[in-house]
Amino acid sequence: MEAWNVTLCLVITACVWRVSQQGEAQRKLYKDLMANYNPLERPVFNDTHTLTVNFSFSLMQIMDVDEKNQVLTTNIWLQLYWYDYYLQWNVSDYPGVTNVRFPASQIWKPDILLYNSADERFDATFHTNVLVNSSGACQYMPPGIFKSTCYIDVRWFPFDVQRCDLKFGSWTYGGWSLDLQMIEADITGYIANGEWDLVEVPGRRNEKFYDCCKEPYPDVTFTVVMRRRTLYYGLNLLIPCVLISTLALLVFLLPADSGEKISLGITVLLSLTVFMLLVAEIMPATSDSVPLIAQYFATTMVIVGLSVIATVWVLQYHYHDPDGGKMPKWTRIVLLNWVAWFLRMKRPGEDKVRSACHNKRPRSSLSSVDLNVSTGGPQATNGNMLFIGFRGMDSLHYATSPDSGVICSRLVGTGDDEVLLPSAGQASSSSVSGAEPDLAKILEEVRYIAKHFRDQDEEEIMCNEWKFAASVIDRLCLMAFSLFTTLCTTGILMSAPNFVEAISKDFFT
Ligand SMILES: *[C@@H]1O[C@H](CO)[C@@H](O)[C@H](O)[C@H]1NC(C)=O
Ligand SMILES: *[C@@H]1O[C@H](CO)[C@@H](O)[C@H](O)[C@H]1NC(C)=O
Ligand SMILES: *[C@@H]1O[C@H](CO)[C@@H](O)[C@H](O)[C@H]1NC(C)=O
Ligand SMILES: *[C@@H]1O[C@H](CO)[C@@H](O)[C@H](O)[C@H]1NC(C)=O
Repeated sequence: MEAWNVTLCLVITACVWRVSQQGEAQRKLYKDLMANYNPLERPVFNDTHTLTVNFSFSLMQIMDVDEKNQVLTTNIWLQLYWYDYYLQWNVSDYPGVTNVRFPASQIWKPDILLYNSADERFDATFHTNVLVNSSGACQYMPPGIFKSTCYIDVRWFPFDVQRCDLKFGSWTYGGWSLDLQMIEADITGYIANGEWDLVEVPGRRNEKFYDCCKEPYPDVTFTVVMRRRTLYYGLNLLIPCVLISTLALLVFLLPADSGEKISLGITVLLSLTVFMLLVAEIMPATSDSVPLIAQYFATTMVIVGLSVIATVWVLQYHYHDPDGGKMPKWTRIVLLNWVAWFLRMKRPGEDKVRSACHNKRPRSSLSSVDLNVSTGGPQATNGNMLFIGFRGMDSLHYATSPDSGVICSRLVGTGDDEVLLPSAGQASSSSVSGAEPDLAKILEEVRYIAKHFRDQDEEEIMCNEWKFAASVIDRLCLMAFSLFTTLCTTGILMSAPNFVEAISKDFFT
């Protein structure tokens, strides 16, 4: 028991002695090192010697890429290494003290700054302690949120790759007094960004010579290469735009009688404008280069605008005033023959009318109207009443309409529709001579009616012709605009240099 107590006492004493000893050594060391130290002095053995500073950085995070203001915001830890000639000591003189820390203001440190800084304070670093070991090696790692100017080229937005330079160098020392050497950037601690994929951070050391002197001015430039991740813009801008531009094609499928053709076109145009405004908000107001997406939107808008114009043309044909005259000869030949043939379009009811009319005897006018003279049954008590079948006129009237055959056969089959009329004919002329003027009058009336119907038919034929022309134009526009839209969409989007890479990485992973 005694022995154990004594041992414990010894251990505790030893510990306390050690700690106090180390504390004393540190105090002594700080006192000795700072005794003759001047932080303004460049710490080299001989003032003609060059002090070498090794420079590197750790990229922790890409915080923001501001396309509009052309500013890149990054979270970076700088790493500076140099040898301070005046901060060396013999470890055996100061037992246990292998390294000491100095506030950055107490000792000399290189004035390395980010040249293309866009920060309000310019130097955005937090001045941490400098770690110094017994051989005088200083390690200074100031972290900071750096805002740097960066020319952001949005030509291929949203399939763009940006290269932002970060140029570091001493603000006042030249290459003869302070030699800046580069160590490769460290990205092991990098935290992934939702919008940007970090591709690489190559660095290089440059030497710049000014007119004033022969001394080189070295700098270290790191280039942050990052690729925009496309999924967000693809889902929120591109796919809606593709869908909307596809909708614009439906304008040509919509029947003209629905009266919605124009409103559909205009609605599509408006929604495209809204999307374009969204894009314009992100983009810098530059005229250097038109972003790919703006190009695409503009092209789509032009296509939709053209389709509205084409629709107006179609409607003008569809609702053409029959009194406005016949279709010009060449329009008829081109539209109704060539284009219709090319698009494999048939006039509505063309087949039916042909077959219906081939089966019948051609009747062209009232002169050939059948007068079905019945010699008088019990119903025809007057003996003057004759059945006149209106078949001829009916067939004439309906010959142009698609279901003429049906109607014709119905008229012929059932006697219900036959009109009972006093009629001129051999029977009447032979029996009652006083009825002749009446009959002539009636014939006149019938002729008038027939003429009226014929005019109506002609008008309808003309109307149908215009309508058919309208539908031909519609179909032609549908084909042309489908082709054009597809070509533009693929052509413009595929022209981005890293389109395939972006799609495969962002959409299919
Ligand atoms: C410093 O270096 C120069 C040239 O290298 C030399 O002439 C000079 O003697 C050196 N000074 C001392 C104190 O060592
Ligand atoms: C700087 O880097 C060079 C080469 O990598 C090395 O020889 C030198 O010791 C380094 N200096 C410091 C202060 O770390
Ligand atoms: C450090 O100090 C010890 C004892 O004082 C001495 O023997 C040794 O040579 C010194 N080392 C250096 C590098 O000066
Ligand atoms: C001091 O640090 C440098 C670089 O970090 C290293 O090369 C050197 O060995 C260290 N010296 C001692 C005594 O630990």
